[in-house]
Amino acid sequence: MKSFYITTAIDYVNGSPHLGHAYEKVLTDVIARFRRQMGDQVHFLTGTDEHGQKVQASARKRGIDAQAFVDETAAEFRALYDKLGVSYDDFIRTTEPRHKQVVRDILQKLFDAGEIYRAEYHGFYSTRQEQFLQEKDRLPDGSWPEIFGEVSEIVEPNYFFRLRKHQDWLIDYLKTHEDFIFPKYRQKQVLEFLKEPLNDLCVSRPKERLEWGIPLPFDEGYVTYVWFDALLNYYSAVVDKGLWPADYNVIGKDILVPPHAVYWPIMLHACGLPPPKSLLVHGWWLQSGAKMSKSTGGAVNPLDLIAQFGVDAFRYFLIREMNVGQDSEFTVEQFLVRYNSELANNLGNLVNRTLNMTTRFAAGVLPAAEVVEDPERELHELWTRTRDEVISLAEGFQFHTGIERTIAFVTATNAYIEKRAPWKLGKSAEPKDQALLRTSLATMAEALRLAVALLQHVTPGTTEKINAVLGYQPGADWPAELQWGPKLNGSKVAAALVLFPRPVAPDKPA
Ligand code: MSP
Repeated sequence: MKSFYITTAIDYVNGSPHLGHAYEKVLTDVIARFRRQMGDQVHFLTGTDEHGQKVQASARKRGIDAQAFVDETAAEFRALYDKLGVSYDDFIRTTEPRHKQVVRDILQKLFDAGEIYRAEYHGFYSTRQEQFLQEKDRLPDGSWPEIFGEVSEIVEPNYFFRLRKHQDWLIDYLKTHEDFIFPKYRQKQVLEFLKEPLNDLCVSRPKERLEWGIPLPFDEGYVTYVWFDALLNYYSAVVDKGLWPADYNVIGKDILVPPHAVYWPIMLHACGLPPPKSLLVHGWWLQSGAKMSKSTGGAVNPLDLIAQFGVDAFRYFLIREMNVGQDSEFTVEQFLVRYNSELANNLGNLVNRTLNMTTRFAAGVLPAAEVVEDPERELHELWTRTRDEVISLAEGFQFHTGIERTIAFVTATNAYIEKRAPWKLGKSAEPKDQALLRTSLATMAEALRLAVALLQHVTPGTTEKINAVLGYQPGADWPAELQWGPKLNGSKVAAALVLFPRPVAPDKPA
């Protein structure tokens, strides 16, 4: 078995989770489930980023101890991911001893090797961004952009990590590993960024300014810069499992340059470790053109849609709507369009027809197909094409197109039913018509079974429910499940299943 190690970004727990956080975990889950179905031995890591200024400030605002605060908020993130069916194998919190120990060991190792050095720092510091600023960050009028909040001038000794020393190595690495970043064009942005000489990275924060962090092992008067701490989660979580390097670190585009594309590979390289094999960079969910975040919550909190429409409808929408790597606008109207036209009226309709007609014309027991004429042949051929295409699309993270193709196959199956019109065949006593009736029942049921097998990584709960009403227990070998065949012959189906209840008119969300 091929091993496949995949991670998500770890979320800041200074507030509640929002759609952007949920999307990334669902996307990574879809990839993890797909790889498991393809037979890989998957290790899927997610978790929470719990140190730093923002968390310390939020805890103080609430008037509680930082640890008590992160215990509460991290649990909220984890509960959401559990509810969304995110099939992580490990959930790491950066406040756990197993992580802190690895971070301290690595800092010590880098310090001993001269990769981290102490120097006097003169400069401007943004508390909000937890970062030192440079002259080039100023606006033309000399002031600091608003995103930095309050900026103060400081002089203090600090510890610096030698980024500059490894800049040429990184440039060379990127040029010789063209597939390091998906989508590919982002690799060029990184090389562009690397045209300027790098400054060494300040990895320490004096305790007077920030207490909530991992103390430096060689100077307990300082805590570790939160990014240096957080990035190491991907490694600390598997240090005793021998799984490094990761196959994919999945991240949003806002944290590619510089943290994941510059600090992270250089940190690993300085430790004598290989970089992750790839970075998978997704875009943003926008609302009215702006990045969604806790504070921009519009009239509808997208997470409320889970309670109303179910986990799978929510997962379906996120994966159906977003072209991985690009941005996508979130609107409830668009959610309802997908829900109604693709799930309720198309897939839901096929489920209803299959169950109703099997109950009505075959006493609920699926017959064998007996005839193969043009309508059947065309559907078989469409299935083979659809399956091969969807697998290859999923391998390239084109899940949205994969779903589109699968839904087109469902549409074709509904059209097949119209063509065969089992309700007419059922009225005829002709043996030929009876054989066609049995064939049409078997064909629609098999097409439904196959379609939901192909949606399994996106909507696992729905696939399971539909298999259950078809009286079917799928085997463990997923590719084998995708063969058209007589698997459902003799299955006893349920009389009905309400899967996607009451389609709602787009103008009046219930
Ligand atoms: N804690 C850091 C990541 C450290 S990884 C070693 C962080 N946290 S975050 O909570 O701000 O963001 C977590 C992930 O959610 C990031 O990958 C980010 O891109 C993603 N998203 C946050 N808002 C988003 C959208 N509106 N849309 C899609 N994803 C975005 O950054």
